[in-house]
Amino acid sequence: MSKRSNYIAKTPDHKGVINYTEHEHAIWRDLYTQQFESTAKYAASSYLAGQALLPMSEQCIPKCHEITECLMPLTGWSVTPVPALIGFAEFFQMLSKKTFPAASFIRSREDFDYVEEPDIFHEIFGHTPLLTDPGFAHFSARIGDIGSQIAPADYSWLIRLYWFTIEFGLSKQDNGYKALGSGLTSSPTELIYSVSSTVPERREFNVMDILRTPYRIDIHQPIYYVIDNINDLFQAAERDLLGDIKRAQSLGLFEPTYTTACQA
Ligand SMILES: [Fe+2]
Repeated sequence: MSKRSNYIAKTPDHKGVINYTEHEHAIWRDLYTQQFESTAKYAASSYLAGQALLPMSEQCIPKCHEITECLMPLTGWSVTPVPALIGFAEFFQMLSKKTFPAASFIRSREDFDYVEEPDIFHEIFGHTPLLTDPGFAHFSARIGDIGSQIAPADYSWLIRLYWFTIEFGLSKQDNGYKALGSGLTSSPTELIYSVSSTVPERREFNVMDILRTPYRIDIHQPIYYVIDNINDLFQAAERDLLGDIKRAQSLGLFEPTYTTACQA
């Protein structure tokens, strides 16, 4: 979140509205068309229920305030445009206030299948459906609360819990796996890979294990954690996560199952 961006943030006009070009709307349209069909098959039912509630157009990039108008009465969350990358301190602060920071740019056609930096498609199509769910919304705000209480040196420990659930979590459903995390539902290739491939390892949801699992942002994940249902996350939110981080630190990170470039 704090490394240098390859993209330039879009700036809102005097009415707070971001004006996208027809070329940018066309990228949204193509991503939406592909992922709408793909999520119907590979995404978790809780994600799909949220997707159906939101005013997302196939034709053009939604405005953040339109999504907020839908989220607010459901879970009290809002969506606010931010520069392409923000620091962890600001990120956690915003989550603690039930404000989802949405990067405003949209990926280029070269990054169509996966973009390391979060773009507006990832933020709106991937994240906001889950924020309609009270359990998921509560878990997200709790990560923000905890992140606002820890030292910067501890951010990377907490962010693993965010990464392996909100970004790349799987759930059990229909005797198989379905994608829950926004990094999956917004990725044309990793959505299918995470659910169907025999290559990645799928581990049972366990907060302590997650805190100790390193990851890379630039590859399809070699490990996914699988929750039974959203209630697992609601219960995780009630844990002593500050104590969990201290315990995880004393136990240390697991050995990576990948080559170590870009370890987080
Ligand atoms: Fe994200």
